Formats: sequence, structure tokens, C-alpha cells
Amino acid sequence: MEKSLANKVVVITGGAEGIGYEVADRYLSKGAKLVFLLDINEKLGNEAVQKLSAKHGANKVIFMKCDVTSDLVPVSKKIFENYKVDILLNNAGILNDRLLKKTIDINVTGVCEWGLAFWDHMRKDKGGNGGTILNLASIYGYRVDPFLPVYQASKFAVMGFTKSLGHKANYERSGVRVLAMCPGFTETKLTAAPQAWDMGQDKEFEQFLKAQAWQKVESVGQAAVDIFENGDSGTAWLIEGARPIVEVANAYTHDMERDPKNKVVVVTGGAGGIGYEIADKFLKYGAKTVIILDINETLGAEAAQKLNVKHGEGKAVFIKCDVTKDLDKVSDEIFQKYDVNVLVNNAGVLNEVDDFTWW
Ligand SMILES: NC(=O)c1ccc[n+]([C@@H]2O[C@H](COP(=O)([O-])OP(=O)(O)OC[C@H]3O[C@@H](n4cnc5c(N)ncnc54)[C@H](O)[C@@H]3O)[C@@H](O)[C@H]2O)c1
Repeated sequence: MEKSLANKVVVITGGAEGIGYEVADRYLSKGAKLVFLLDINEKLGNEAVQKLSAKHGANKVIFMKCDVTSDLVPVSKKIFENYKVDILLNNAGILNDRLLKKTIDINVTGVCEWGLAFWDHMRKDKGGNGGTILNLASIYGYRVDPFLPVYQASKFAVMGFTKSLGHKANYERSGVRVLAMCPGFTETKLTAAPQAWDMGQDKEFEQFLKAQAWQKVESVGQAAVDIFENGDSGTAWLIEGARPIVEVANAYTHDMERDPKNKVVVVTGGAGGIGYEIADKFLKYGAKTVIILDINETLGAEAAQKLNVKHGEGKAVFIKCDVTKDLDKVSDEIFQKYDVNVLVNNAGVLNEVDDFTWW
């Protein structure tokens, strides 16, 4: 996928100020063709257009008044009628643990609804051009402290959404990269006076906030460029204390290729020993079929029988095979019937005597 910002059409939710505004500025500096700023704050949105136009030239920024919780359909329709969007920065968000439903509406439902609508618009398998969706998660998307349970729940949701929609399997079909950015504490209006639920720990929260590695919004703007230029779909990136970005939470993703479920597995030398154990374990963890190849017909047939009793009829198949002679014949036979996913190249001998019978 092309990872240059040049000539890109960008849509930023919550782009009138803070991180969204900063990313608009950075992406224009890197050559973006057009940036849509969508925000509920009309006054700041119009001022943002003026400032960015003065810096980057006329007709590069459009403001549209928009509440992400209610205006997706009319606003996206207007944009999609005239433009192919390359990038969505799914950024609008609030931090107020006393507003549970509003937090979920904006930070979760909004992010998912906008993400899915733009994913559909961009997906190559439905006539789109591919593209990138960068979701604003947070350090609170994968790290927990005792102060903001509602906000943390909302940002964990953003991470789950990003990692699932951005999964390699979806990316390969759609050509749409889905990434998450996880900023640490950043000086914006959002963090000026964070509202926590009353849990009797206001003092601790105050001290905690003071002790954090605060950064300016410029660091997050630069991170959004770095992530765009480097990140693979389904990945999440930390930007904290103005340090360089690092990938985080990469253990969450379920790699389907590494899952034994429904796989067809061929095990050479599988009639006994390690080969048999491997066949047994593959079936235990959900393999569809295990094909045992072995030179020993009696043991091989017994092994398949035992495995079928244990894991279900037809799960194990035995084919007599000498790996030194029967490759073409046996592989033909297998490939006609099965789409093989895994080969366990296990057959082997340990016998240094027979080769030296001239002794
Ligand atoms: N500032 C931080 O420390 C920090 C850290 C991690 C993640 N984030 C996330 O980054 C994103 C941006 O935060 P920020 O710090 O720039 O906040 P901000 O308050 O400075 O800016 C948020 C913008 O979103 C807009 N907005 C709010 N509700 C909206 C709605 N319903 N529809 C459309 N626009 C709406 C606001 O008007 C504002 O312009 C948020 O998702 C936030 O959770 C911020």
C-alpha cells in the first residue's frame, strides 16, 4: 500500500481544534490535497479553515458542521458524492466519566459507525480505491489505572474495533488499512479539566495527573504522520511524553494462519513417536484432517484407527509412503482430494550402522 500523504483527500472528525486540527496542519504540510474538518463547534471550525488556508493556500480545507452521533448519513453522502476519500481520522472524542452514554455514543458508537461507513466507501472489493482509517484510541486503550473506568472502556473498544476491522484478512480483501493511535496525556481542551466519577480518590487522581509525562499536541501531529507512513493494518501505536512512536498491544490479534482449526495436516513418519503425537495434538486443537504417511503399513493403519476413535471417524487417514521414493505418487493422490495447509516434515532415521556395512 502506498504510504505517502501527497494528494490525499482526508476527513477528520472533531477537527476544529486539539489533535484533529494539528493532524490537519501536518497532513497538509506533507502534501494532502484536501482536508475536511467536521466538528460540532462551528466557530472554531471556521477559524480553523481560515488559519489553515492562510498557511497552506486556498481551497484545501473545507469545514462542515457535524455531530458524529447524528450526522453521518447526510455529511458522508455530501462528501462521497464528490470525492474519493483516502484517509479518515476518526478523532472526535470526549473525556467525562460523568457522561457515560454520551461517552459511549461519541467515543465508541461514533468511531465504529464512521469507521464502517468509510471502510465501505474505500474497500477495493466494492469498487473503492483502498485507503486508511486512523482511529484515536489512547494509552487507555490498553493500559489501566483506577481513575477513569468509562473513558478506559471506550478506548478499549476503539482498540478492539481497530484490530478486528484492520485484521490482515480484512485488509487483504479490502485494501483498507485500519490503525490506532494511542496518545499519552496531551495538552488540549479535553485534558484541561478531566471529569472523573466520584470514587473517593480525587486527591490521588490529581497527583496522578501531575506525575504524567505530558506532551504538546505537536508530538501527536508528528506521530500521526509517522504512523501513516509506517503502520501496517491492525496495528496500534503509542505516542507518549513526546518520545518516538512505538507499536503496542500487538499480542491481541488472532492470526488465523497460525490456528490449527480446520487445517489439513500431512505428517510424514506419523505412524509412531513424535509424528503420531503431533498428529494427535493437531486433531485435539481442531484440525479438519490429518494425513499420516509412513513406510510401516501396520503401525500406520493402527495409528489412523486410534486417532479416529479418539477424535472422530474420518479425521485421520493413512497412506503408505516411503519419503525417499513416493513423493510424486503420494502427493498427487493427496492434492486431488485435499487442500493441504500444513506439512510436518517429520520422517527420519537415526542409524549410522546400515550405511557402513562394509565395516
Ligand atoms: N488529549 C489527550 O491527552 C488525548 C490522549 C489520548 C487520546 N485522545 C483522544 O484524541 C481525540 C481528540 O482529543 P483532543 O485532545 O484533541 O480533544 P479536544 O477536546 O481538544 O478536541 C476534540 C474535538 O472534537 C469535537 N467534538 C466533540 N464531540 C463531537 C461530536 N459529537 N461531533 C463532532 N465533533 C465533536 C470538539 O468540538 C473538539 O473540536 C479524542 O478521541 C481523545 O479521546 C486525547
